[in-house]
Amino acid sequence: MDHTIQYGTAAAGVISILTLYLALRRRNTVRNIPGPTSPSWLFGNMLQLYLSPTYGDYEFDWQRIYGPFYRTKGCFGQDKLMISDPVSLQYILNSPHFKFGPTMENGIHLLFGIDSIIGVNEEDHKRIRAALSVGFTAAAVRDYIPVFVKAAQMLTEQLEESSGKSSNICPLLSLATIGTISEVALGYSTEDLGEEFMKNNFQILTIAFSQSATQIVADAIGARLPGWVWRAAIHLPTATCKAIRTAKRLANELGNQVLREKREAAEQGLDIDTDLYGRLLDLHRLDRTKNTLTEAEIVAQTAIVMLAGQDTTANTLAFGLVELARAPEFQDRLRAEIHSALCASDGGSVLYDNMPLLNAFIKESLRMFPAEAFTDRVAVKDVVIPLTDSLITTTGERISHIPVSKGQNITLAIASYQRLESRWGEDAQEFKPSRWLDGQTFKGEAVGPYANLSAISFSTPPTVSHMITV
Ligand SMILES: *[C@@H]1O[C@H](CO)[C@@H](O)[C@H](O)[C@H]1NC(C)=O
Ligand SMILES: *[C@@H]1O[C@H](CO)[C@@H](O)[C@H](O)[C@H]1NC(C)=O
Repeated sequence: MDHTIQYGTAAAGVISILTLYLALRRRNTVRNIPGPTSPSWLFGNMLQLYLSPTYGDYEFDWQRIYGPFYRTKGCFGQDKLMISDPVSLQYILNSPHFKFGPTMENGIHLLFGIDSIIGVNEEDHKRIRAALSVGFTAAAVRDYIPVFVKAAQMLTEQLEESSGKSSNICPLLSLATIGTISEVALGYSTEDLGEEFMKNNFQILTIAFSQSATQIVADAIGARLPGWVWRAAIHLPTATCKAIRTAKRLANELGNQVLREKREAAEQGLDIDTDLYGRLLDLHRLDRTKNTLTEAEIVAQTAIVMLAGQDTTANTLAFGLVELARAPEFQDRLRAEIHSALCASDGGSVLYDNMPLLNAFIKESLRMFPAEAFTDRVAVKDVVIPLTDSLITTTGERISHIPVSKGQNITLAIASYQRLESRWGEDAQEFKPSRWLDGQTFKGEAVGPYANLSAISFSTPPTVSHMITV
C-alpha cells in the first residue's frame, strides 16, 4: 500500500518535471531560432519591418540570411516567428490552431463585428466562405466584365488627362477600384454611394493604412488590452472613433437599402442575380443550398466589402503599372495582345484566357507586390509547425519541426514567400512576367488557390487598429 503511494508520488514527480522540461523546451526552441538582432527593446525589429524605405528592404535580406523560417523581435522584447516556408505556411493556414493576431482581430471587431465576417466557429466560417463564393464563380466574373470595361475606360481617360503632369495615380486607381467593387458587389455606382459615404470611406482608409513608430507601439499596447477596452474605446469622442462609428452606420444603412431594393425587385419578378448581393439574397430566398447568409449577415459584409479590396487592389496595380512603365518592350507586346483580343472579340466578350501576356502580368504583379505583404497569426494551443527543410538552432541542434506554445505570435511573410528562390528560381527578386509563360514557375506544393500565389494576398481585410492614438 505504502509502496503504491510512493511509486505514485514518484511517477507524478517525474511526469511534472517532464512536463515542465517540455514546456521550457518549447519556449526555448523559439528563442533559439536564428534571426536578426534587435536594435531596440521598445520596437524590436518592427520599425525595420513596417517602415523600411522601400518594399521589404530588411525582410528580403533577412530571408536570404536566415532562410524562410526565422525569429524576429516584436515590441517590448517578445519573440515573433517570421515564416515564408511553404510547408509551414500551408500548415498554419489550414490548421484550426491559429487565429488572427490580436491587432487584426481587435480591428475587425471594432469595424465589422467579427462574428458575421469570420463566423463564430469553424463550421460557421466555412458556411460564410462557401456562400460568398457565389460571387466569384467563372459565370459571375463574366457578368462583371462590362463593369471592368467601364472602370478601365474611366481610368484611361483620367490618366490621359493627367498625362505629362506629374501626378499621383494612386487616388485615381483607388477610385476606379471602389467604383468596380461597388458595382460588382452591390450594383451601385460611386454616385449612388453618395458623397458622405465616399468621404468617410477615404478617411477610414487613411487611418487604416497610416503607419508610424507611434502607431506601431500603440498597436503593440492595444494588442495587450482586453476586448472590453476595445469595445468601450469605440465610444470615445475622438475624430477617429467618430469616423469609425459613422462608417459602421453608413455601411449598415447602405447594406439595408441595397437589400430592400433587391427584395422588392425580386418580388416584381425581376432578375436580381447580377451582382454579389443579388446572388446572396437569391441563395437565401430560394434556399437551394445550406450555405446561405441571412439578410443580417449580408448587410454585415458591407463595411468590409467596401473597405477591404480598395487600397489593397489599387496598390498592387500601382506597383504593377510602375513595372510596366519600366519595360516598354513588354508594354508594347501587351498592348498588341489586348488590341488583337479586342478585334477578335468583335464587340462581344473578350476571353481573358486568350490573353497570356495579360495573365502573366497580373500574376507577376500579385507575386511581387501582394497587397498584404505580411499578416499576423497567434497559436491558440501548443502546436508543432513542420518545415520544408530542417534548420539549425543557435545551440547547434538540427530540427525539422518547431514546437510553439499557445500564445506564440507569428508573422506569415507572404511577400517573402512569393520571392523565395527555392520556389520561384534565382531571379525571384526580378519582375519577370515571362516566368508564367515558360512553365518553369513552380517547384513543390501549392500554397494558394490562384496561380500558387498565397490565398491570403486576397482574403485578409486591412488592419484597422489605429484608433487609440489618433
Ligand atoms: C503575443 O502578442 C501579445 C500581444 O502583442 C502579447 O501580449 C503576448 O505576450 C505575445 N505572446 C508571446 C508568447 O510572446
Ligand atoms: C501550382 O503548382 C503546381 C505544381 O506545384 C502545378 O501543378 C499547378 O498547375 C499550379 N497551379 C496553378 C493554378 O498554376
